[in-house]
Amino acid sequence: MKHKAWSGRFKEATNKLVEEMNASISFDKRLYKFDILGSIAHAMTLKKAGILSDKEAKKIINGLKSVEKEIDAGKIEFTAAMEDIHMAVESRLTEKIGALGGKLHTGRSRNDQVALDIRLFLKDQIFEIIHLLHGFRQALVDVAEVNMDVIMPGYTHLQRAQPVLLSHHLLAYYEMFVRDAGRLIDCLDRMDEMPLGAGALAGSPYKLDRHYTAGLIGFSRVTENSLDSVSDRDFIIEFLSAASIMMVHFSRLSEEIILWSSQEFGFVELSDAFSTGSSIMPQKKNPDIAELARGKSGRVYGNLISLLTTMKALPLAYNKDMQEDKEPLFDTVDTIKAILSVYGPMLRTMKVNKDKMLRATETGFLNATDAADYLASRGVPFRQAHEVAGKAVGYCIEKGKTLDMLTFDEWKALSPVFGKDIKAAVSIKRSLNTRKVYGGTALETVKKRLKAVKKEMSGGCC
Ligand code: ARG
Repeated sequence: MKHKAWSGRFKEATNKLVEEMNASISFDKRLYKFDILGSIAHAMTLKKAGILSDKEAKKIINGLKSVEKEIDAGKIEFTAAMEDIHMAVESRLTEKIGALGGKLHTGRSRNDQVALDIRLFLKDQIFEIIHLLHGFRQALVDVAEVNMDVIMPGYTHLQRAQPVLLSHHLLAYYEMFVRDAGRLIDCLDRMDEMPLGAGALAGSPYKLDRHYTAGLIGFSRVTENSLDSVSDRDFIIEFLSAASIMMVHFSRLSEEIILWSSQEFGFVELSDAFSTGSSIMPQKKNPDIAELARGKSGRVYGNLISLLTTMKALPLAYNKDMQEDKEPLFDTVDTIKAILSVYGPMLRTMKVNKDKMLRATETGFLNATDAADYLASRGVPFRQAHEVAGKAVGYCIEKGKTLDMLTFDEWKALSPVFGKDIKAAVSIKRSLNTRKVYGGTALETVKKRLKAVKKEMSGGCC
């Protein structure tokens, strides 16, 4: 029977199928750097507690560092028999430094070890994601600035509604992605607790200075309850939730890019470098990246649901079910990072068809609200003003006209309140520029917001 770290009480060897199913090494090997970092901190804590001598701690730490180098260099071939990354590192350490390697696990369990590893991994990745997110927001801001004078139809129900600036539309996404960054920062703060010392579930009988360990590996706090320390995966769920919300934003933006680059809209054209073709239809230029970003929202939400479902009925404390936390987490991290990396360059190289967007504001009566507002601002109750403007739209549809084509006599016939200045009041540019309310789409308001946003961005990513 092959020896396993836990096989003291076992008489039979592990069934091959059990070994395969039980192993997490194929995916948790990517935690090796964090596992080794945690082990070094643990060795130092054991030294501080008088469990390891200076010499022993040094030997263990140097051994761990050389295991890390071997893994970096791809020299260790991971197999299912190794079970998981914690066992793999420990057994290689023991091969290298002898029985002393077996002292490292004093006062520790894989349960608190894995809880630490994932926190370290996720902290590291969230920093990276926040940084990528900042770069992507910069792309949104730059594209908004370059296209400051582009007017387009704003929609409700995907029906033309009122004219807006393209930059205002893009900055709407900026706001969403700022909230996403905020959620990630909140998540980082809440997960900033060090679980080592919880042991298997009940805490450790050794005098481990948990605050010292936390300081060594950059945690601000230690976890408060040993049972919770090894059972908690809220921080992953919270990250997956924040990632899912971010994917809602990417999916909505993608949907718009896909619509806008269709021939029906023709508002934008993605560059060749960020488009793909069809194997059968030579004319095709497809927005695959936007489609994939929209599509990948499915797997990210799926990952969230997967972990919520895994966790929902687990009794305290650790259960092996929890090994299922890693793949959804890794997949989400990889997906989000890939989208964040490609999306900025895609937007920056997108051609904006300014004329087509402006022309689209000229039909569809996007200025009908302005006709109603004209009357309302001259004392007509808005409901009545709405009715008159609606009649004006009906009249135009009948005559095949747009509102700005109506003569003064035609306006007068609709309501005696209309003066000669109604013509100017329903111009698209004016419609847009009257919306000076804080947060509105008037050019000067958007310019002010852009200035504030640029200042916000120059302050860094968090
Ligand atoms: N590979 C395990 C996981 O990812 C590590 C913890 C194992 N703990 C245990 N008691 N078997 O969850």
